[in-house]
Order: sequence, then structure tokens, then C-alpha cells
Amino acid sequence: MTGTRGDRDGSLSPGYSLGQETKNRPLSPKKKRKEKKEIDMGENFKGRICLVTGSARGIGRACVEKYAQYGADAVILTDVNEELLRRTAAEIQEKYGCKTFAYPADISDPDACETLFEEVTAAVGVVDVLANCAGITIPKYMIDLTVPEWERCININLRSIWNLSRLFALKLRESDKEKGNIVSISSQASKIGESANGVYSISKAGINSLTQVLGLEYAQYGISVTAVCPGYVNTEMVQSVFQERSLVEGMTPKEYEQTLTKDVAMKRMCEPEEVADLMAFLTGGRADYITGVTVTIAGGKTLI
Ligand SMILES: NC(=O)c1ccc[n+]([C@@H]2O[C@H](COP(=O)([O-])OP(=O)(O)OC[C@H]3O[C@@H](n4cnc5c(N)ncnc54)[C@H](O)[C@@H]3O)[C@@H](O)[C@H]2O)c1
Repeated sequence: MTGTRGDRDGSLSPGYSLGQETKNRPLSPKKKRKEKKEIDMGENFKGRICLVTGSARGIGRACVEKYAQYGADAVILTDVNEELLRRTAAEIQEKYGCKTFAYPADISDPDACETLFEEVTAAVGVVDVLANCAGITIPKYMIDLTVPEWERCININLRSIWNLSRLFALKLRESDKEKGNIVSISSQASKIGESANGVYSISKAGINSLTQVLGLEYAQYGISVTAVCPGYVNTEMVQSVFQERSLVEGMTPKEYEQTLTKDVAMKRMCEPEEVADLMAFLTGGRADYITGVTVTIAGGKTLI
């Protein structure tokens, strides 16, 4: 039997089906765990259009998969890596049957962002959900950093989020839509400041502050603004940093990873899907009253 979650007759939402014979019998703890996995978490994207930056791979890609899986009308993918972007968009459309659109763009270029919003609005519609995932790291000590490197990192990681959020809010405000959601990826590095990764830490700390300001200013348009702060996430970005650093430290990348995860209570890295799950929750309707905050997802990294 299927229905709406919490129906008085005991039936639950699509995705959760409960056999008639088990309906009135208590479930064993093991069975309960199994059934729990099948419960629809309520992140409902039906009728919504989502735009995800940096979505050719990594956490951005995982985020697109969540939106597609949770029934979004369409997901727009954007990234500088054009070839991979088109491949990712095609794979996800094939896998979930959700409409995907690949729009290659460098989000640090304000003109490219304007064109992106104009074209997307005309071709697909007004965007309901903006997930800011694109980002880079420049693993250098501040004393060695050059001005162009500082500008590149700040423009990609921070300025673009202000700019895209502004374009998103302007389009939403002009439309008859009553609500929207923005989520950005900050980092645990924003909370502690990281040596030899300074400009990255600074750009991410800027996202936390931007999230507070936009949370305050965009509430009047029905837009929630949040950010997530992951610790170490198992993506190509991090694996390439591990590769470089392990050479310097005279270790294998795996040994280097193990030294880092010693400081993580969970003793492991985070998977991209885990971050994407949190982002889907924050933008999926059940969290509309959460705004202006950053949520840490770091396996207890700062507790040790
Ligand atoms: N992996 C981690 O451990 C970790 C931890 C905390 C925060 N983050 C953040 O999560 C986000 C995603 O990281 P990831 O690990 O998936 O990295 P990734 O390198 O796998 O993916 C980032 C994507 O952004 C794209 N991109 C880079 N510059 C761009 C630009 N100018 N315009 C458009 N697209 C651009 C890249 O092509 C790439 O596809 C980043 O903002 C990163 O800072 C990652």
C-alpha cells in the first residue's frame, strides 16, 4: 500500500510500501532498520528546476544525482570542464529519466553568469534551487601566493556565489514563484584556518558570512540561504592534493590520508553522496525555515 507519509490509515509515501500482513505487527529491530532505509525522506523536488555549479564531477555531480532522484523537473549542470559536463548530464538523464541541461560556463566571469541565467530562464524556466558547488583550492603558503592566484581563488569560490545568488534572486523576484532555496559549499577549513591553504580558507570563511547576510536579505523574497561545511570528502580534488602532499611528506597517498583521518572521530573520509544528501535536505522543502546558517558535516573532525 502506498500513500502520503503520515496518512491516518498507516500508509506511507511512495517508495515505502508496507505489506498488509505486517501492518499491525511490531517489526523486529533488524527489519525496522531495513524498512527505514526505504522511507521517502521528503526531499521533494517535483515541479522544481535546480541549477548546480561545478557539477561535472565530485560533490556537484552527487548533488545533481540527488535532485534527479528526488524528482526534479529539470536539473541544469554547469562547469568549465565542457566535455565531462556533457557526459555527466547525459549519464544522469539516462539513469533517472530526469531532464538535464549542460551549460558550460566559467562562473568566475560575471558576463558568463548573466548569459547563463538569461539562457536558462528562456530555455528551461525560472530556477527554484541554486546549489553552489564549484570551487578550487590553491595549496600555497600566504607568503608564496601571487596576486593573480588570490584573485582567481576568491573570484571562483566566493565572488561567483554572491553574483549567482543575486541573479537567481532577481529572476525569482520577477516571477510569480513564492519561494526558492540556495545552498553553497563552504568548508571545515573556513572555521579553523588552514596553513598552506590560506586563500581557500579565507574564501570559504567569506561564504559563511555571505550566507548570513543573504539569509537576512533574501528572506523577504521567500528564499532560504544555507551553506554546508564538509571535512575531507573523497573526491578527485582531494585525492590530487593527497597525491601532491604525500610526495612532500615521503608517504603514500593512503598513508597521508590515514594521518589526516586520525583527527576525525569517525576515522574515515566523507563520501560525496553524504554531502549531497544534506544539501538536498536543506533545499528540499522540509528545511525552508533554516536560513543564514552553515551546517558542518565533518565526521567529528574538530572534536579531537
Ligand atoms: N573534497 C573535499 O574534501 C571538500 C571539502 C570541503 C569543501 N569542498 C568544496 O566542495 C566543492 C566541490 O569540491 P569537489 O571536492 O567535488 O571538487 P572537484 O574538483 O571534484 O569538483 C569541482 C568542480 O568545479 C568545477 N570548477 C572549477 N572552477 C570552475 C569555474 N571557474 N567555473 C565552473 N566550474 C568550475 C571543476 O571543473 C570541477 O568539476 C568545492 O567548492 C570545494 O571547495 C570540498
